[in-house]
Amino acid sequence: MKKIVIAIDGYSSCGKSTLALQLAQELDYIFVDSGAMYRAITLYFLQHQINVEDPIQVNKALEQIHLKFVYDSIQKKSFIHLNNTNVEQKIREKIINDNVSIVAANKAVREFAIAQQQLMGDEKGIVMDGRDIGTTVFPNAELKIFVTADVDVRTERRYKELQEKGIASTKEEVKQNLQQRDFIDSNRDFSPLKQADDAVVLDNSRITKQEQFKLVLDWANKKING
Ligand code: C5P
Repeated sequence: MKKIVIAIDGYSSCGKSTLALQLAQELDYIFVDSGAMYRAITLYFLQHQINVEDPIQVNKALEQIHLKFVYDSIQKKSFIHLNNTNVEQKIREKIINDNVSIVAANKAVREFAIAQQQLMGDEKGIVMDGRDIGTTVFPNAELKIFVTADVDVRTERRYKELQEKGIASTKEEVKQNLQQRDFIDSNRDFSPLKQADDAVVLDNSRITKQEQFKLVLDWANKKING
């Protein structure tokens, strides 16, 4: 059967990764959460006090960073490893949320991550979610989806998620972080968050996860069989 590339982009906390994972599991495709790569790079920069404004420090640091997604057959998903350590939990902490967009705006950081992301798509059969997948990483992706939702809906969802994980935060903090990240991501010079001209827009403010999945699976099957 024909294999395609599916690019899912959009604003923070729109449920892109959940959707991408569901789709990849259904189609038996590889799922890549590109945001996890920027988060892991940010973790390394914080751990080693790398000044993102200093190109020499940034380049040296990038030479020391090895990222790998390791598949867990029980949980049926991949977890990111930074220099052979599973950092999946650490990269979801507030300090990473507060710093990741600044690190991800750095040109050398983006080039480093994008080159690896493009290699992962060589064989197709991949669903990747992020901010610039349809515009920069896979401009020829057969299916591009741009996900959006009202900021208050996104805040509510993210707040609940944090509560479930036992991470303390107020709704106002959550909302501010989402808006700040969206602003930085949309306004950076290099591969900003932007809807690709040929992307389908999916506003999931008022639909259930099941309705969303059915809709998207239908779009994917049309591309695969069409
Ligand atoms: O998707 P997630 O919210 O985990 O991404 C974290 C951050 O990584 C985003 O806010 C953005 O700054 C950056 N990112 C990016 N390009 C991508 C994926 C994520 O700049 N393709």
